[in-house]
Amino acid sequence: MELKHQILKILEENRGNSVNGTKMAKELYVTRSAIWKNIKQLQSDGYHIEGIPNRGYILLESNDILTAESISPYLLGKAKNFKLDVRKSVSSTNTLAKELAADGASEGYVLIALEQTEGRGRMGRSFYSPDSTGLYLSLILRPQLNLEDSLLITTSTAVAVAKAIEKLTGNDVYIKWVNDLFVGGKKVSGILTEASLNIENGGLEYAVIGIGINVSTKNFPDNLKSIAGSIFSKKPEDKPITSLLAAEVLNNLSQAMDNLTDRTYLEEYKKRSFLIGKEIYVLKGNESLPAKALDIDDRARLVVEYQNGSREALSSGEVSVRAK
Ligand code: BTN
Repeated sequence: MELKHQILKILEENRGNSVNGTKMAKELYVTRSAIWKNIKQLQSDGYHIEGIPNRGYILLESNDILTAESISPYLLGKAKNFKLDVRKSVSSTNTLAKELAADGASEGYVLIALEQTEGRGRMGRSFYSPDSTGLYLSLILRPQLNLEDSLLITTSTAVAVAKAIEKLTGNDVYIKWVNDLFVGGKKVSGILTEASLNIENGGLEYAVIGIGINVSTKNFPDNLKSIAGSIFSKKPEDKPITSLLAAEVLNNLSQAMDNLTDRTYLEEYKKRSFLIGKEIYVLKGNESLPAKALDIDDRARLVVEYQNGSREALSSGEVSVRAK
C-alpha cells in the first residue's frame, strides 16, 4: 500500500483523535519528514487533517472524502470481504466493472467513483454524477441464479439501499418499480443491474449492480430539476456521512445477496412500493397503455390489469403514475 494510504488508514482508525507523527513514522518504518510530506499531500488533496503542535495529526470528523480506508472501518460480517476500489473520476462505474468482471474480477469487487463523466441509467438514460456530491458504486456478483430470477437482484438491492438511506436520514424511502427510490416525491437514487449470460448453463456469468445516490447534489440539469432530489439538503458535518452510507449500503447488500432466493425481502419491497393500487401507464414502444398496478409477484414482476380486464406480469419496462 502506498505510504499516503497507510497514513490515511491510521488516521481513519483514530478519526477525531490526534495521532503522534513520531509514533506513525516508527509504525510505518519511515522518517517523520516522510510522514509530514505525505500529510501535506493529503491536505492539498482536500483531506481535513489538522496538525496540532506536540500532539500530532488529526483527521477531522467533517472529512467526507470517500476512500477504501474511510469505508472499511464500518463494514460488518461478510461485507468485510468486499474488495473496495475507489477512483476519483471514471466514465461509468458499471462500464468499468463490467470490463473488470469480463477480465475475471471476483465476486465482491466494489468499484466506487467520486465522479462519473458518463453515468448511465436504465433505458439508455444518463445518470447525473457530479464530483463528491453522490455515491456512485458498482458491485460485481457471480450469482447462482436462474435467469428468470434475475429481477430479484435489482429489487432486493432497492430494499437494501432504501434501508440504508432511511437509517442515515430518518426519512421514509419509497420504491417505484423497479429501480427508482424516492424521498419526498423526488427521485434520490437509481439502480442499474447489468449481467452477462453464460450460454452453456443458461445462468449468469456475472452481474454488476450499479447504485447511484444523490447525497447532496444541487443544481440538477434543467431536465431533472423537477424530478430529482438529494437525501440531504445540507450534509451533516459531524460525521463522514458518505462513507457511512456506502458502508451501510454494502452491509445491507451482502446480507440481501445471501438471502436472495428466500424472497422474504419482497414484503419490505411491497411496503415501500408506491405503485401498488395506483392507476398507471405502461409504456410499450410508442404506446402508453392505461392500467392498474395490482401487485408485485414472487419473481418481483409488476402485475398490472389493463382496462379490458386482461392481466400481465411485467418483468421489465417503464411505467408512470397517471395523474388523477
Ligand atoms: C437509473 O436511474 O435508471 C439507474 C441509475 C444507476 C446509476 C448508477 S451510478 C453507479 C453505476 N454506474 C453507472 O453508470 N450507473 C450506475
